Amino acid sequence: MLIAKLLNATPDRIIFTCSATDSLNLAIKGYLKKGDHVIVTSMDHNSILRPVMHMEREGIIEVSVIASDSKGYINSVDFFTQIRPNTKLIIATHASNVVGTLADIEKIGEIALANRLAFLVDASQSIGVVPLDVQKMHIDMLALPGHKSLFGPTGTGALYIRDGIDLVPLRHGGTGTFSESMFQPEEMPHRYESGTGNLIGIAGLNAGIKYILSEGMEKIREHEENLADYMYQELLKLNKVIVYGTEKACDKTAVISLNINNWAASKIGQLLSDKFGIITRAGLHCAPLAHKAIGTESCGTVRFGIGYFNTKEDIDCALEALNEICKKQQTTTAPI
Ligand SMILES: Cc1ncc(COP(=O)(O)O)c(C=O)c1O
Repeated sequence: MLIAKLLNATPDRIIFTCSATDSLNLAIKGYLKKGDHVIVTSMDHNSILRPVMHMEREGIIEVSVIASDSKGYINSVDFFTQIRPNTKLIIATHASNVVGTLADIEKIGEIALANRLAFLVDASQSIGVVPLDVQKMHIDMLALPGHKSLFGPTGTGALYIRDGIDLVPLRHGGTGTFSESMFQPEEMPHRYESGTGNLIGIAGLNAGIKYILSEGMEKIREHEENLADYMYQELLKLNKVIVYGTEKACDKTAVISLNINNWAASKIGQLLSDKFGIITRAGLHCAPLAHKAIGTESCGTVRFGIGYFNTKEDIDCALEALNEICKKQQTTTAPI
């Protein structure tokens, strides 16, 4: 199985799911028990925050949130200070979907290991672009979607579960194995894969990963990093544009989040789409605490997701469009 290759895992430790959200729900709800404490971070997506906050509100678990700085960096040492006697799990997002800033997963993994805590990584924004190694990084569970940088179809995802980690399945049913038993099989992957899988989607995901392996992840990363860095540097010349996140291209994925003065992010996104044919995502990107950290919780940002198939010409088009919007703003007095 090619996903295993990307993670330096063995194929028998990976199950297919229908999304990163699905994987994260199984990892979180299947691992945590009544009275447990979990540590998450402010750069996490709602697909982590909502399950843990739901469980906290139901009185099942306790949750601590580690705050990032205004560029999206998490200080790994902060995990130490939050550990309690009942802490069972650390969850971290490898790359922020708002600003792209990478977390030091290996360091966090060392802290989890040293304190005998399980470590769950959300690799939604990094898988296929940034190298991952579940052995070296001491990762116990890793959630990934198929439809982002792995070039798979929507409705695909996977969860890596280290040998020795047992999760309570969220779904019980037919697996095509041990049919004589009315109880869920214990074996991987059947313990967690009930019902007919998305076989067509998985075939598509397989083709996507084959392509990545044939191109080489380093080449993909270099191309995306160069384009993002070029865009970032050019944006600094547009003085009405505020760019969020770190200026260090090597510390982030190819995400550019920005605002133009006091214009609503949704308005900029609309203009980019309607007048220039450029599709961005405007708003809070399902990561409200990340926006709080970078100071945009009331307005959101306009996010450009730069991919392997983008070219320097695409970036120039985006820069020209943003320049035009800045000029338009000069002739419009009221915030739009
Ligand atoms: C960081 C992060 N985590 C989780 C998710 C959820 O992924 P999915 O849509 O596959 O459930 C996303 C999706 O945008 C994401 O960016």
